[in-house]
Amino acid sequence: MKKHTIRLHPLGKEIQVNDLTPLIDVLHEFGIEFPCGGKGTCGKCKVRLLDGEIQITYQHRQKLERLALAPDWRLACFSKCTSDITLEVEQFNHLILADESEFDFTPQKGFGIAIDFGTTTIVAQLVDLTSANVLAVETMLNPQVKFGADLISRIQSCLDGHTGEMTQIIRSAIGTMIGLILKRQDVHLEKVVLVGNTVMQLIFSGCDVSPLSMYPFHAGDLGMKVFTPEELGWKLQVKEKVQFYPSIGSFVGSDILAGIAATGLHRKENFTALIDLGTNGEIVIGNIDQIVCASTAAGPAFEGANISMGMRAVTGAISSLSLIDGKMEVSVIGNTAAKGICGSALIDAVAILRKMDLIGMFGEINSGEDKIQLTQKVYLTQKDINEFQLAKAAIAAGLTILSNKLEIQVADIHEIYIAGGFGNYINLTNVVETGMIELPEEKIHKMGNTALIGAKMFLFEDSEMTQEILSKTIHVNLEGDPNFQNIYVDKMLFQ
Ligand code: FES
Repeated sequence: MKKHTIRLHPLGKEIQVNDLTPLIDVLHEFGIEFPCGGKGTCGKCKVRLLDGEIQITYQHRQKLERLALAPDWRLACFSKCTSDITLEVEQFNHLILADESEFDFTPQKGFGIAIDFGTTTIVAQLVDLTSANVLAVETMLNPQVKFGADLISRIQSCLDGHTGEMTQIIRSAIGTMIGLILKRQDVHLEKVVLVGNTVMQLIFSGCDVSPLSMYPFHAGDLGMKVFTPEELGWKLQVKEKVQFYPSIGSFVGSDILAGIAATGLHRKENFTALIDLGTNGEIVIGNIDQIVCASTAAGPAFEGANISMGMRAVTGAISSLSLIDGKMEVSVIGNTAAKGICGSALIDAVAILRKMDLIGMFGEINSGEDKIQLTQKVYLTQKDINEFQLAKAAIAAGLTILSNKLEIQVADIHEIYIAGGFGNYINLTNVVETGMIELPEEKIHKMGNTALIGAKMFLFEDSEMTQEILSKTIHVNLEGDPNFQNIYVDKMLFQ
């Protein structure tokens, strides 16, 4: 078969592909995102054709015109490779958090692999079960991103009939990661443990996700899923079956179960909370007696979605802002000119604009104008500020409603742990300033990849700890709370 070379600028990478290979099949490995899952509506997979030719179909041309893209741009999701080409692509540096933290364990014989299977990124660690030392790490971008960036678009792709393909590519990708680890470390595996959100669990397991697309959002069996390596198409020896840990509720997966284990909140007398500020914004509050948890719709604004100049934490994004001598100073990833703003800086911007009295308690721009310039090019509009208010209110309302369920006040929470890659980069002073978390900063701690920490802990446990956590945990539907609307609207204000 005819082969072609694709050169990626400015990554300096070259790939060889077969004639007629769809670009969507190969570019996701380099961080190109396909947020709408290849429907041609988001325009985020756009690439600039610097050299060579990509033929444009009628449908492709219509999409390009609708997105008002210049003639040298193509949508990767509509393009096939028919000659040698050079493409300019956006450089996505996804943050992949591995983990080296220490935890209590009872030594065992052998080796295990713990895997945090996220919507965007996947991390696998080989652990020596006699010492809990990490011997090898593999990370990768989730190859399912070509079916959409977030959970909703992944579910939609399943509804469009792609479940089988998505199951197959993820099993194969994780099998390859494990293979790479075992190539470097020739050991006999005792266990492989996976954790991930509910949608990832169902797709990996080849289960139906359609119940998650409609009310009452009850996914069928969310319990522990076990597989032999042969069932997954993995050519490797594992003493025990591969285990995908159980989800807690329809949108609260085993990544949060692992997070609870990592914080140890299920064994503490004082009430402790865990917040994962990922796409889904999960919140857990509990202690040794009881635990409540919920998911919120906080994520999109923090990931730059729905913000006019919002972008991921990539080159050109403002990553933080500070107020120095009454003037706003910005830090830009890659030290280049600012092209947009990412989630961590959005929190800073709103906190600072409040401090400068440029926005009022309802989020209104005090000057009456429609936008505020942060730099010469980058600005926040009134709508952006309102989007932020929705996101921060989702977290603040979630904390309040879950506290109410436990018959405590938010102020009674002894400590809050922030999980996830995004959480690692936020400025806690500004988080408190905006009212997203209504507790003193000293009570809030960043904990990194709690899902991976918990998955490693599961390598040392039988199912007892999982059962202990699940038996204490109640999944709460926040919107179902009779006071939800009032609390949510109240939390949108800047007090
Ligand atoms: S336009 Fe959305 S993925 Fe291509």
